Amino acid sequence: RGTPALRVTEWSDLVDWWPRLGASSEKYSRGVVGVATGSATYPGAAVLSVSGALAGPTGMVRYAGGARAEVLHQHPSVIATDRVAASGRVQAWVCGSGLGTGEESAAELRAVLAAPVPAVLDADALTLLVDGKLADRLRGRDAPIVVTPHDREYARLCGETPGADRVGAALRLAAWMNAVVLLKGDRTIIGTPDGRAYVNPTGTPVLATGGTGDVLAGLLGSLLAAGLAPERAAAAAAYLHGLAGREAARGGPVTAPDVATALRPVLARLP
Ligand code: APR
Ligand code: MG
Repeated sequence: RGTPALRVTEWSDLVDWWPRLGASSEKYSRGVVGVATGSATYPGAAVLSVSGALAGPTGMVRYAGGARAEVLHQHPSVIATDRVAASGRVQAWVCGSGLGTGEESAAELRAVLAAPVPAVLDADALTLLVDGKLADRLRGRDAPIVVTPHDREYARLCGETPGADRVGAALRLAAWMNAVVLLKGDRTIIGTPDGRAYVNPTGTPVLATGGTGDVLAGLLGSLLAAGLAPERAAAAAAYLHGLAGREAARGGPVTAPDVATALRPVLARLP
């Protein structure tokens, strides 16, 4: 029996997909995720996306961008450089949140797209794709792309809002961009270029606070770098992000750093 074209992600999927530590695991075999986010203007976006990446299963996080001091202050285990081109090898890139939309930011996005590894594109990277007419660069790219638009970012990419049929909307963009689409909202949808979709059942309105999307992008990058197929990485990241929002809400009003912190007890429930 094949996988149905439309399905709801379940906890048992996470259990099936999750990479496990073995006795011979070491940091490179667990995967290295590169995070090209933030800027001097938006250092918080860098710190948050790195916090999501650190919560995932990879063995190392490299940061490349304009918020090195803030990232290293918050997360001393990270290896930081100022540019993607100056970074060491990674198995997946996360690019966009708080990056800015100027020429230097566009150069960083181009460097990410030139790397032969999976990439998550969010926020300013999506704006740069539209403004810089870089969307065509995705077509010829061999390594997978996951784009993570909220509704306004979707509208910028597509020229129209997602509308009521969010599954159809995600699938249209996925086919057009030849990318996996994680369409964020109260019912996040993951669509693939070949017409399959996951609905995420764990969403919670406590996630409607600035910066939680950055945490999600970082976590998703970690799952890609750990070797999950792109649609599984996206479905798993959305699922765990929702559970982390619920977990964080047990302690009172939720901010984005709380969601990153709450990923740890949620992941600890995986066998
Ligand atoms: N129910 C469930 N999940 C929700 C809901 C809701 N009502 N509202 C938002 N979410 C989830 C989304 O699915 C997504 O995972 O919260 C996350 C929000 O991500 P973004 O829309 O990317 O928002 P984010 O970038 O974190 O912050 C918004 O604040 O930091 C600034 O400039 C930044 O424009 C950005 C804004
Ligand atoms: Mg966002």
